[in-house]
Amino acid sequence: MPEEVLAPSVAVTQKKSFLRAARGEHMRIPPVWLMRQAGRYLPEYLAVRADHDFISVCRTPDLACEVTMQPIRRFDFDAAILFSDILIPAIPLGCGLRFDSGHGPVIERPVRSRNEVDSLREFDPREELDDVLAAVKLIRRELPDDKALIGFAGAPFTLACYLIEGGKPDPFRNVKRMMYSDPEAFTKLLNKLADFTADYMLAMIDAGADAIQLFDTWGGILTVAEFRALNLPVLQRIVAALNHSVAPTTYFVLNGMHLASVAEIGADVYGLDWRMPIQSAKARFGTQASLQGNLDPVLLLTDETTIRRAARQIINDAEGAGFIFNLGHGILPDTPISSVDILLDEIRSSRA
Ligand code: CP3
Repeated sequence: MPEEVLAPSVAVTQKKSFLRAARGEHMRIPPVWLMRQAGRYLPEYLAVRADHDFISVCRTPDLACEVTMQPIRRFDFDAAILFSDILIPAIPLGCGLRFDSGHGPVIERPVRSRNEVDSLREFDPREELDDVLAAVKLIRRELPDDKALIGFAGAPFTLACYLIEGGKPDPFRNVKRMMYSDPEAFTKLLNKLADFTADYMLAMIDAGADAIQLFDTWGGILTVAEFRALNLPVLQRIVAALNHSVAPTTYFVLNGMHLASVAEIGADVYGLDWRMPIQSAKARFGTQASLQGNLDPVLLLTDETTIRRAARQIINDAEGAGFIFNLGHGILPDTPISSVDILLDEIRSSRA
């Protein structure tokens, strides 16, 4: 990111430890937040959900703000992540979205042919996702100055997986069929998704998001060659659009260790899952980017000694790097609150 767009006073007096670490500074106590930190493991979240369905929570600024703030109040995390979902844009795209309890997301009108790609609606996120942007504004006002607000989107490939498959993509039959048999239509789809994603993320930054995370949950199913040919160009395009702004971008890919070209995306931070040792990531990214991760969420279902040992190992491995502590994927709904308390105590134990 060009230095001149960061006012020197902002760079020097930056109170948000998340942003300092995202810019490459090694913090003795790493900033910490957890993917899916707002959600079903919190009784106060379940209380809100008892009266409102998931999409209504996402699309009602007061409710989205309330559930975004819940984990900050309880755990004092260093960053809040907007409460929304990567699939919300399926609504203005015209695909229809619902969440069936127990079955996850359902895309009511999947996109499987060239015609269906062509007939996706074009929309202006500032108009049709104005409720999400209003939530960002509200949260930024509520959030203390030393906490960063993270806005986010699904990476185009991951979004495409849900739109094509009509729900949970695994085992990717329709996605791969379209990718192999009509790569042109597939690329067109990715480009359409990248277009609104860049606009949407810039609108979030204008509304007050301090940083952006792109979630590429399914990017790791691609071969090295497919990732390079299909995914890398759209990711580079989004990151390049965002890097003209002042907000750092994190790229998170699940199970993507085999993808050397990830390093060419140009992100400021790379989110690691638990498979990728921090040491190897340091060797791969050097001082080019900061790292985020990567405790296995299942460790939070174990005992105190095991949690503390695993967290300490990660902190030791990250020594010297710009580093943000997180999980290697989203927190599991059956995670005990006490495990999160133990984790935070271990991370912050040398703060006193
Ligand atoms: O706290 C946060 O991290 C912010 C909110 C957030 C949600 N989803 C809320 C949510 C974020 C950043 C996401 C990202 C997301 N959504 C991803 C990428 C990250 C990942 O987990 O791989 C994906 C693939 C989705 C799509 C999605 N949303 C699925 C597959 C599901 C159903 C499975 C599940 O976990 O229930 C959702 C629902 C969802 N998104 C919930 C929450 C809190 C559960 C809704 C509820 O029942 O209350």
